[in-house]
Amino acid sequence: MAARINPSILSADFANMQRDLERIASADYVHVDVMDNHFVPNLTFGPQMVERVQATSPVPLDVHLMIEDPDRWAPQYAELGAFSVTFHAEAATAPITLARTLRGLGARAGVALSPKTDVAAYLDLLPEFDQVLVMTVEPGFGGQKFLPHVMPKLTRLREAADRLGLDVWLQVDGGVTDETIEVAASAGADTFVAGSSVFGAADAGAAIEGLRAAASAHLHRH
Ligand code: DX5
Ligand code: ZN
Repeated sequence: MAARINPSILSADFANMQRDLERIASADYVHVDVMDNHFVPNLTFGPQMVERVQATSPVPLDVHLMIEDPDRWAPQYAELGAFSVTFHAEAATAPITLARTLRGLGARAGVALSPKTDVAAYLDLLPEFDQVLVMTVEPGFGGQKFLPHVMPKLTRLREAADRLGLDVWLQVDGGVTDETIEVAASAGADTFVAGSSVFGAADAGAAIEGLRAAASAHLHRH
């Protein structure tokens, strides 16, 4: 299996979104960072914009909701056809109920853990999720430095997924480069979000290919 590379359009040119979606046509999924200026101190896209990206993108959407009250607001992203919808553990009131709702609407359900959030409560809940996103920066902005001290969370998630025999995708998001992606893959990640390292490259397709090759060489086989 090759590593999945999901470029984050937080680093795209918002006035040239269609052009930038074409630049990343060789990606596995398009990572869409929805921010509400409450859960994080930044504001990006809402459902109308995501619906247009969904209609325009040749690649399916991996929606990352950095918003308050995902219990209320997340299902509409599944309804508009997103391939996966990931909400933050810190923001959800009833994460299991929400994950079941998202799956019932035909999306993959993901839960995201900010750097300060302990993974322990989620290990036995893995059957309820298709993806766990381990944040490797504080959520809110692109272009930050990768936090290696969260890697033990990936190790524990990978062990739990293997023990339970689950194909839950383990995603990392923040500060992913040709170097840090190897560290994250070695710790157990298989799905990688990259914003500035893809859109900041002269050739985004080559950047995706380079990241995929670097990660794939270090993937755990499962
Ligand atoms: C940060 C977002 C990330 C961000 C990553 O809150 O969730 O998806 O776009 O950007 P880079 O790859 O530049 O760290
Ligand atoms: Zn993200």
